[in-house]
Amino acid sequence: MLDYEKTYAESIKNPEDYWEGIAKELSWYKPWSKVLDWQYPYARWFVGGETNVVYNALDRHLETPVADKTALIWISQDMSERKFTYKQLNTEVSKFANGLKSLGVKKGDKITIYLPRIPEQFIAMLACLKIGAVHSVVYSGFSADALKNRVEDAQAKIVICSNSYPYGKKIIDSKKNVDIALAENKTVEHVIVVERIKNNTNDTNSRIKHIKWNELVTSQSTECKTEVMESSDPAFILYTSGSTGKPKGVIHGHGGYMVGIYATLKYVFDISPDDIFWSTADAGWITGHSYILYSPLINGITTFVYEGTPDFPDIEIWWRLIDKYKITKFYTAPTAIRALMKFGEEHLKKYDFSSLKILGSVGEPINPEAWLWFYKHVGREKIPLMDTWWQTETGMHMITPIPSVKLKPGSAFKPFFGVEADVVDDHGNKVPPNTQGYLIIKKPWPSMFLDVYNNPTRYKETYFEKIPGVYFAGDSAKIDEDGYYWIVGRNDDVIKVSGHRLGSAELESAFVSNPKVAEAAVIGKPHEVKGESIKAFIILKQGVTPSDELKTELVQTVRKSIGPIATPDEIDFVEKLPKTRSGKIMRRVLKAQELGLPVGDTSTLDD
Ligand code: WTA
Repeated sequence: MLDYEKTYAESIKNPEDYWEGIAKELSWYKPWSKVLDWQYPYARWFVGGETNVVYNALDRHLETPVADKTALIWISQDMSERKFTYKQLNTEVSKFANGLKSLGVKKGDKITIYLPRIPEQFIAMLACLKIGAVHSVVYSGFSADALKNRVEDAQAKIVICSNSYPYGKKIIDSKKNVDIALAENKTVEHVIVVERIKNNTNDTNSRIKHIKWNELVTSQSTECKTEVMESSDPAFILYTSGSTGKPKGVIHGHGGYMVGIYATLKYVFDISPDDIFWSTADAGWITGHSYILYSPLINGITTFVYEGTPDFPDIEIWWRLIDKYKITKFYTAPTAIRALMKFGEEHLKKYDFSSLKILGSVGEPINPEAWLWFYKHVGREKIPLMDTWWQTETGMHMITPIPSVKLKPGSAFKPFFGVEADVVDDHGNKVPPNTQGYLIIKKPWPSMFLDVYNNPTRYKETYFEKIPGVYFAGDSAKIDEDGYYWIVGRNDDVIKVSGHRLGSAELESAFVSNPKVAEAAVIGKPHEVKGESIKAFIILKQGVTPSDELKTELVQTVRKSIGPIATPDEIDFVEKLPKTRSGKIMRRVLKAQELGLPVGDTSTLDD
């Protein structure tokens, strides 16, 4: 195993050399002429190089023994299995890619994928990249309105969805959401429908042409040439929430992105060829893109996916699956650990877990209690737990341990190789040890996002202007006397509810979409299981009477506008909101008041 300090010191002597060495482990159609072109705030890696993520995730394995290895194991909610070797997955991807081409999809076209956790979700993603189309995966739990905004912003030409699908005991009619979302759409030409549940045909009387997935692929050739892409050509757009406005489309490219995700998985999870890697995320989020799909395949290992939730059909399902499928690396979120912890460790005692070699955590700060529980009862105090800090924008792990280092429960350790980070004050000066400050990244890294789709101003303002010269992550952190990073949480108006990223502004506009609401202010409040929960302060329109029924109605308003993940826990009706003289709501003041903390500087407060 690697010596972290030595390797890190070498890697940052010249990060470009370090990343170039990694890039050489992957396959390129044409080598780069320059490792990095850094025109602040835009980084372009492996300039002049030509490749494709799929060339590395599938094609390059086909001539090797990896071809017959299992690439994907998928388990449905009723425990049926679908397994694909690399060769078989390549065939499915090629057929679907040819299907997309037959519908006129060309390089650079945008395709929205609104699918639940089923193999077609991954096949569709790979097929898009293979032909140079740009996918935008929208989490299947998002509502029709949220889907509509994302399809419109991306100007998608195709939407891929399922008719309906099982989710725990429920059946979700997801096609209905698509019909609502596309009712007035102007750019979508075709909707491709996967029949997750047989014989469930929905009425599709919209003007957009609908095609069933199976019918589209039946007569397609199993051969499809992988498109040659420039290193910084876009691979995908993924919408994520920020402090202000609507969710933004984070763009990732082919070359740099694949280099970063390849190296991080390889070293953080100490990848070996016989690994069966299970990330419990959904491909609707960046963790699913980077570490369920692309990096495990680029590394040539087996990725494991369970369709259901951690509590269905019962709360031991994850533990049973780990033993049954001999999972070697298990990567999940603190919120899931905290939820499962509540049922007690008795539920884990009868499981063997001897296949497990490394555990991982992502999505929000992990409290030492949850860390120790996971380490003790799942890891049996024998295997390392990697707390990985990163973001949709970073594409890859940034602050993370590797298995050989000494761990401290609750700390995400130190920067990954080739990554230079720090914790600074308002002026960009390093803060003393154990002092809270802003987490920044000092130099570009290969999986850095390329831009915000259709909004370069937002790219510059959000990430590169708060502290000039560096990437401003939006998180607060401390570095202790041993150099270990402790992530405190977001320092902007982003709320992490069960690891899902939501913006206060987007929640507030959901509330005011109800005609009874005049104004809304939303804050995140610490929550024992979810990490944070949503609390809203609502000013009603004149003449509207506050009531519990109205609270219920407002909860529905938000669920309809964003989705069940945005369900508020508390709603207070108020007469006034703290504002600056220029009319900006001071959420910081509301939050301090709510938590009984000092409200701080209120000199700019209007009232
Ligand atoms: C938070 C998820 C503490 C953080 C990959 C970040 C974490 C945001 C950790 C990005 C961690 C993620 N410890 N906080 N290990 N991992 N976060 O874009 O606030 O959905 O800014 O990406 O999640 O969320 P996103």
